[in-house]
Amino acid sequence: MSKYLRNTWYPLTWSSNVDRSLKRHTVIEEDIVVYRKTDGEIAALSDACPHRLAPLSIGRLVGDSIECGYHGMTFNCSGTCEKIPGQRRVPDSIKVKSYPVTENMGMVWIWMGDPAKADKSKVFDLKEFHDPNYSYVLGDALVVDANYLNLADNLCDPSHVAFVHQSTLSNKEHGEVPVHYERLEDRVVTWRWINDSPLIPVFKDQFDYEGNVDRWHYYHYFAPSVAMIDFGSAPTGTGAEQGNRDHCIQMFACHFITPIDERSCIQHWLCVKNIPSDPEKNAKLLAGLRIAFDEDKTVLQAIQKNEDKLVGFKKARIAIDVSNIKMRQMLDEMIEEEQLESIPFTEVV
Ligand code: FES
Ligand SMILES: [Fe+2]
Repeated sequence: MSKYLRNTWYPLTWSSNVDRSLKRHTVIEEDIVVYRKTDGEIAALSDACPHRLAPLSIGRLVGDSIECGYHGMTFNCSGTCEKIPGQRRVPDSIKVKSYPVTENMGMVWIWMGDPAKADKSKVFDLKEFHDPNYSYVLGDALVVDANYLNLADNLCDPSHVAFVHQSTLSNKEHGEVPVHYERLEDRVVTWRWINDSPLIPVFKDQFDYEGNVDRWHYYHYFAPSVAMIDFGSAPTGTGAEQGNRDHCIQMFACHFITPIDERSCIQHWLCVKNIPSDPEKNAKLLAGLRIAFDEDKTVLQAIQKNEDKLVGFKKARIAIDVSNIKMRQMLDEMIEEEQLESIPFTEVV
């Protein structure tokens, strides 16, 4: 079975990173050249000239087309060859693969599968990102030298927070609080409530409240590479768990994971919050989250090194692994279904 789902919108790069220069990106082991056209739309082509495989990203833009930097063959943004220096006829068979792309939430998304199935309305969206009652901070594009599913494991696993993020997102004494799991049609949700406890460190600069709070963490994982963590706090005893969030701080940490290959990925993250944008508070929030996500990166990269050495090692499964198992099952089923769909149907007479 293929390692990757293809018919899906993968996060590619921040929109602000795409301009009139040619940039090379790698998604599920395919190299892609990306640029912005003169009308502001984005084009994405396979980054290999079909002549001698020179990367098109080392060529040059001529209008909205790319001129190969080796012998000057020119391809338009759909991948059609427009010009071959030294010959008049341009065979239709010479072309470059082009990829559907779209933009949402400050991110460029790329469709790696059948272009006919690329539905832009299905790209991941968080309605609060567009809601004027919320603000957001764009984080980083963190290169993590680890398999993207190990990062996904981490992002649907509240249990590690008490041990990895004691200075930022948690307090050690909450390692024993029970975790709940549910697989829905489009996601795996993992959650827990930690009631009557102090504010976590990253909220202290954001939320003007001194007393204890009831705190929630809902981890939503959408296969294959989007995780959204809804976390927040409300004064203890005000019924937050029952749905009353009148006076609360709420954040949505969105993680858009670009799988590069089996051993590396890019973690694009941003944070949407129900508090107004304030430069000083934003800077403190970004600093706190950066520390937290670096803490994850350190663990994940160390795990990857061990996995590379201990090939075939049978890992122990424990009670807290339910979500990770559900998450990987969900993805395996999606990949299997996609492959079954792609098998041509032959009628037996
Ligand atoms: S390698 Fe591109 S034109 Fe020759
Ligand atoms: Fe973490």
